[in-house]
Amino acid sequence: MLTFGQCIGNRDIEMADAVYETDMRTSPTEARGPEARSPGVLITGGSRGLGRALAIELARRGARLLLVARDAARLAETVAEIRTAGGNAHGFAADIGDKQSVHAIAAAAATSLGEVDVLVHNAGTLGPVPLRALIDTDCEDLERALAVNVVGPFRLTKLVAGPMLLRRRGVVAHVTSDAASNAYPDWGAYGASKATLDHLHRIWAAELGGEGVRFVAFDPGEMDTAMHRDALPDADPTALRRPADVAIELADEVLR
Ligand SMILES: NC(=O)c1ccc[n+]([C@@H]2O[C@H](COP(=O)([O-])OP(=O)(O)OC[C@H]3O[C@@H](n4cnc5c(N)ncnc54)[C@H](OP(=O)(O)O)[C@@H]3O)[C@@H](O)[C@H]2O)c1
Repeated sequence: MLTFGQCIGNRDIEMADAVYETDMRTSPTEARGPEARSPGVLITGGSRGLGRALAIELARRGARLLLVARDAARLAETVAEIRTAGGNAHGFAADIGDKQSVHAIAAAAATSLGEVDVLVHNAGTLGPVPLRALIDTDCEDLERALAVNVVGPFRLTKLVAGPMLLRRRGVVAHVTSDAASNAYPDWGAYGASKATLDHLHRIWAAELGGEGVRFVAFDPGEMDTAMHRDALPDADPTALRRPADVAIELADEVLR
């Protein structure tokens, strides 16, 4: 079994350093003693949509944040917004679907948060859009959906849950979807990946739930986000949930 230390290669450390030079402020551990520290929360997909709203909500509640997304500029905007409001946030630009990047994310979390108290697997991909029937879905598109929605979160949980197990304390949240349990036509790559994520979640919870690591599965419902617009461009946005409202529920779940 890989340990956290074994997984951190030189390339990962270089990537992490590059981000910290441009993107990091005072280490949270410099400002607070270990007893007084607020929860360290790692959110994938933290730059927009539900992840951004959750970051803002958790920052308001005093959490220290590391946000991950691929688009560095958009990520920097969200981090700056949180800091301007007095929150404690850092950003790390990375692709959760890339194996080496996941190791770098864990390294960045160790440096910026110290201990990860809460890990939120929120980043997700629909797979190819416009959405299409399975017969028209390339194998590579299915592989990519599985890499981002399933394998990346699995790798990251393996890296983060080890230290949580040693402390016998921690929360891992999976953002799921009703597409995991309903066979919606044209949602094949996404639905199959979310179903796999759901089942992984249940097994993680069965294996580690008694060891002090709490696993949370959270279905946000239909929200007014870029992902929803990509999937269903003609949907009425006023009929969809606001990410800020959903974020309050998810924040309650992970911090309780
Ligand atoms: N919106 C809905 O109606 C709905 C319904 C049910 C479930 N969900 C689930 O809720 C979660 C959030 O969805 P959302 O609607 O807020 O999505 P969104 O608005 O599209 O935001 C997705 C976030 O994930 C990041 N991301 C996407 N691919 C990534 C990758 N490969 N590596 C790292 N970051 C990545 C995006 O930034 P970059 O693009 O810069 O990487 C962005 O920050 C997803 O898991 C989704 O499946 C959404």
